[in-house]
Amino acid sequence: MKKFIDNLPKIELHLHIEGTLEPEMLFDLAQRNHIQLPYQSIQEVRDAYHFTNLQSFLDIYYQGANVLQTEQDFYDLMWAYLEKVSSQNVRHAEIFFDPQTHTHRGIPFEVFLNGLVRAKEGARQKLGISSELILCFLRHLSPEDALKTLDQARPFREKIFGVGLDSSEMGRPPSLFKEVFDRARDQGYRVVAHAGEEGPAEYVWEAVELLDVKRIDHGVRSIDDPKLIEYLVEKQIPLTVCPLSNIKLCVFEDMTHHNIKQLLDLGVCVTINSDDPAYFGGYMNENFYATQVGLNLSKADLYKISRNAIQAAFLNGDRKQALNAELDAYYRDQESGN
Ligand code: HPA
Ligand code: ZN
Repeated sequence: MKKFIDNLPKIELHLHIEGTLEPEMLFDLAQRNHIQLPYQSIQEVRDAYHFTNLQSFLDIYYQGANVLQTEQDFYDLMWAYLEKVSSQNVRHAEIFFDPQTHTHRGIPFEVFLNGLVRAKEGARQKLGISSELILCFLRHLSPEDALKTLDQARPFREKIFGVGLDSSEMGRPPSLFKEVFDRARDQGYRVVAHAGEEGPAEYVWEAVELLDVKRIDHGVRSIDDPKLIEYLVEKQIPLTVCPLSNIKLCVFEDMTHHNIKQLLDLGVCVTINSDDPAYFGGYMNENFYATQVGLNLSKADLYKISRNAIQAAFLNGDRKQALNAELDAYYRDQESGN
């Protein structure tokens, strides 16, 4: 089964680039940029990665991002991620970045954007992996700050594919961000939002009804509302589920209690993703392995999950067809024992 997962063509749709900062790179960049870290060793960093909920993770995650200072730092971060997942047979990735985490520290928009774009273009040419950027608004900050961020992104409109909404969820309903999402859609961005990770199913409704998102990040709490499940199935609104993240942040007790298999069987378009792999113990393949073992997923389940990801991706019809053909050929060969 491990080999089946390793070679399975995959698409990643929920990945925060700041969440790919491995402890080794954290130390390298801190040294390069003369930044003092509150850790003495890589082991000490890893030991600090014990989280009790989303906020306990975010506090450490935003602190880690402080070492990212120059265009080269952002390039190195993005390149390392794309190289890693390309070796895991990820064919396409849609990647979140958090401008406010950087602009609020005085890093100009063009510094991180240019670094990310340069790596993404290089990876497409040298590794054959395609990727798109999704700008996320931090929901713990004000809607006015999100509007300001959308304005700052204007000169880079062609390089940014979509917008999303992340950070602390409880007490920060999607409805607060209706205006900025209306404007983003008017400017031609594709829109997604984190909802129903820790927050209630009601937030998923708000994201689809008020923000008009076509894809939900996490969304696992949708299970609490049968009408919402019916709606997600009928409209085929995908959920970008992140199993290892959910365990690390105590959304589920352990993988045997995760609800992705239940959602899959109900007909929801679920996908598997890594969220913040440097913090949650694994990239795409590790998420697939852990989920397969915990829930005893079959090859047919894994194939369906990968097919869902192609359906859920913001790709043009030709590229989707090509990826479906590649995935189908792989699955057919595996089924026939070749
Ligand atoms: N949820 C909300 N915000 C985030 C996450 C997440 O899982 N990862 C990085 N920012
Ligand atoms: Zn996320």
